[in-house]
Amino acid sequence: MSSSLSPVYAASVPAGAAAEVASHGHRAEVGGVLRRCRELVRPALVEAVGRLHPWTGEMAAHALGWCDAAGTPDPAASEGKGVRQALAVLGAEAVGADGGVAVAGAVAVELVHTFSLMHDDIMDGDALRRQRPAVWKAYGTGPAVLAGDALHSLAVHCLAEAPGPWTGDAVRRLCGALNALVCGQAEDLRFERRPWSGPGAVGMEQYRAMAEHKTGALLGCAVALGAVLGGAPSGTVAALERAGRHLGVAFQAVDDLLGIWGEPMVTGKPVHGDLRLRKKTYPVLAAVAGDGPAARELAVLLESPGPLDDAAVAHAAVLVEEAGGRAAAREEARRHLDAARHGLRGFALAPGAAGDLDALFASLLDRDW
Ligand code: IPE
Ligand code: MG
Ligand code: MG
Repeated sequence: MSSSLSPVYAASVPAGAAAEVASHGHRAEVGGVLRRCRELVRPALVEAVGRLHPWTGEMAAHALGWCDAAGTPDPAASEGKGVRQALAVLGAEAVGADGGVAVAGAVAVELVHTFSLMHDDIMDGDALRRQRPAVWKAYGTGPAVLAGDALHSLAVHCLAEAPGPWTGDAVRRLCGALNALVCGQAEDLRFERRPWSGPGAVGMEQYRAMAEHKTGALLGCAVALGAVLGGAPSGTVAALERAGRHLGVAFQAVDDLLGIWGEPMVTGKPVHGDLRLRKKTYPVLAAVAGDGPAARELAVLLESPGPLDDAAVAHAAVLVEEAGGRAAAREEARRHLDAARHGLRGFALAPGAAGDLDALFASLLDRDW
């Protein structure tokens, strides 16, 4: 098995060492990088989805933001930013290869991401994704499971067809990341049954390991696949993979913040969604782990029987903030983002792509989507 299930590493760089707040100019530049990568990958992604059974293909097109639930092209739908496909393309370019060599890897990680969200929305009972009905809501649970399965196998198939001497290594890495992702989802689901306080409570290290598995593994794999398909030496691939994993842990901490305080019109998810479902996310766990009155009141609220109404959920969000959970999650994201950016330095990477990667990394801390 690959190293994808290695224990999570502590972020090794002092907080704030590499952090800069992205300026608007910086963001515009990152938007251009993401668009360029999506345009490079899109024909192969369309071709791949076109190989599916028409029904699973329609569900895939819905999930990818290409069509509405009636199978009609939907120009208003969000396609997503394509962070994972961009990481694959930039991973290849950073090691001096043409981004085109990474397209099969980019398609594979985008398909895996899409399938994992389809199944995740079923597991989490989330009815909305990117402001539209989740696939299971639009088509039913059975069909959404099937469409996810179809995308999963298509991802591995597309990568296995990549020409060149590195294909076996690339497929092994993708399978390792898939295994880690499933482990992370298993840990996440099992956390739901654990108490909020006392000896069985979820520790912050356990949470971090879960986030590294469910989110970090695929981001690390994406950038590593680009480097592998670009013919990079194993040390460079390992460094890029590690950086991508740190990025994933940071990404998940920001996702957790957005799950409570995100603007629904931008995130496409309901307000306070994660709190209403009492998800064990970083800000809430960090808040409950405190010992002040807000932490104690929050634990009592979360342990109370019955559903939380709007007022209780809004109050819980205030308590999480008062108990320091919001600041702690932001600090977690910053620490891992700094480690990710630090990890890119010290390697002889192509300056243009390394700059694009660094800008993409930096932009994710302040994302609102
Ligand atoms: C999703 O995690 C991770 C995977 C699909 C592997 P979450 O459940 O935390 O993500 P969102 O908030 O639904 O996007
Ligand atoms: Mg979810
Ligand atoms: Mg989930």
